[in-house]
Amino acid sequence: MKIVVIGTGYVGLVTGACLAEIGHEVTCTDNDARKIETLESGGLPIFEPGLEKIIPRMRKEGRLKFCSNPADAIAFGDAIFICVGTPPLPSGEADLSAIDHVARLVATEAKSPKLVVEKSTVPARTGQELKRALAVYARKTNVTFHVASNPEFLREGTAVGDFLHPDRIVVGVEDQTAEKQLRDIYGPVLERKFSCPVHSPACPDEPLPAWVVTSINSAELIKHASNSFLAMKISYANMVADLAEKLDADIEEVVRAMGLDPRIGPAFLSAGLGFGGFCFPKDLQAFVHLAERSGVDFALLKEVEKINKRRIDRFFEKIRGALWVVRGKQLGVLGLAFKPNTDDIRFAPAIELVKRLVAEGARVRAYDPAAMEKARPELAEVEYAKSAYDAAENAEALLIATEWKEFRDLDWNKIRESMARPLIVDGRNLLSPQQMKALGFEYLSFGRPS
Ligand code: UGA
Repeated sequence: MKIVVIGTGYVGLVTGACLAEIGHEVTCTDNDARKIETLESGGLPIFEPGLEKIIPRMRKEGRLKFCSNPADAIAFGDAIFICVGTPPLPSGEADLSAIDHVARLVATEAKSPKLVVEKSTVPARTGQELKRALAVYARKTNVTFHVASNPEFLREGTAVGDFLHPDRIVVGVEDQTAEKQLRDIYGPVLERKFSCPVHSPACPDEPLPAWVVTSINSAELIKHASNSFLAMKISYANMVADLAEKLDADIEEVVRAMGLDPRIGPAFLSAGLGFGGFCFPKDLQAFVHLAERSGVDFALLKEVEKINKRRIDRFFEKIRGALWVVRGKQLGVLGLAFKPNTDDIRFAPAIELVKRLVAEGARVRAYDPAAMEKARPELAEVEYAKSAYDAAENAEALLIATEWKEFRDLDWNKIRESMARPLIVDGRNLLSPQQMKALGFEYLSFGRPS
């Protein structure tokens, strides 16, 4: 099929590249002309493993194009995926102006019927507004539109694999034509009839994805409800970790056993500095707002957010408890990204932590395998290390803020020798307390006996 993707951020770029990979002809457009220029010249505006291989290959095969003229892009496609940003307004509510802008664009430029697929994360009932807006803006052209909601469940860092091997594909539709078109688009994924040389094939016993057809309102709600539920699991685990600490229990033992119950599941129960990124914090706020506007007091989620904000305080208490005075101390920080395998620092707990350390007068030398370039403008007062070893040198404490795998595999003997004081405060429970103690470290983490 001929598909247009509007918006080339994380979601749009992964969606466009993977739709091309499974056999469609895709044109991506964006109102940021610089982004399109970068993509046209072979560059990538984001770091997402796999894209660096898929995008050039798809361009070479002529299945993926980038275009700065939205009118040309819209004319090209039968289906239009809206992947524009819905950032938070100061109130926490989602800013939907980009969706409205795209609706106007599509309605005025389309010359033939289009399937308009809302992929951006939006509050429930946005699809209804989108339908109405398309009809209003297109009232002189008489072009018909089918609207669908197709929320994405991609995780940064594994987005390509998540797209090609999803556990479910949710389509919110109000007519059979829209469902049929979406089924055609996702056919190769549903039947796993594609081979992607740059992404490992699914293991043979992996179940095929579920095809979940719902109303548009439900599909939108599924997205917010899923992200908020996962955020809730994290905050829950963090509270249990605090309690475990007081009771001399071990959070790792507790969540391992909890997760064995299939009704609970093991994922998203890792205690630590809490969640960040451009999805959970903003989606949670937008969901609470949506509930409020609908007359439902979702106090549970307000608490989830509060617990998460307090994680940095808890971490700080640990640092202060160990160092006594923070001012003037040389500290190493490992990790700046909001999670491993990404260079994304948006709403990263690590960034907030470093800001606080600097405000308290600490001297910070930070290292992250991917996120230092993005962190520089945000954290100007920080020294950037060449390696994790460099960050640890002469430090009076080494703080782990993002659980990159390579940090686990460091030569910890070498690190201990180079530090002014062999103190580790592990904000992600990345290392083993027993091993660190055996190696001669003072070691603090979340919810585990020290
Ligand atoms: C999240 C969801 O997992 C995706 O399904 C969804 O599509 C995406 O948001 C989105 O809405 O676009 P992502 O933000 O990439 O994906 O990151 P996650 O892997 O979910 O992690 C979110 C945060 O939670 C990270 O800061 C991570 O460190 C933290 N986390 C995760 C914990 O603190 N504990 C855990 O047990 C798991």
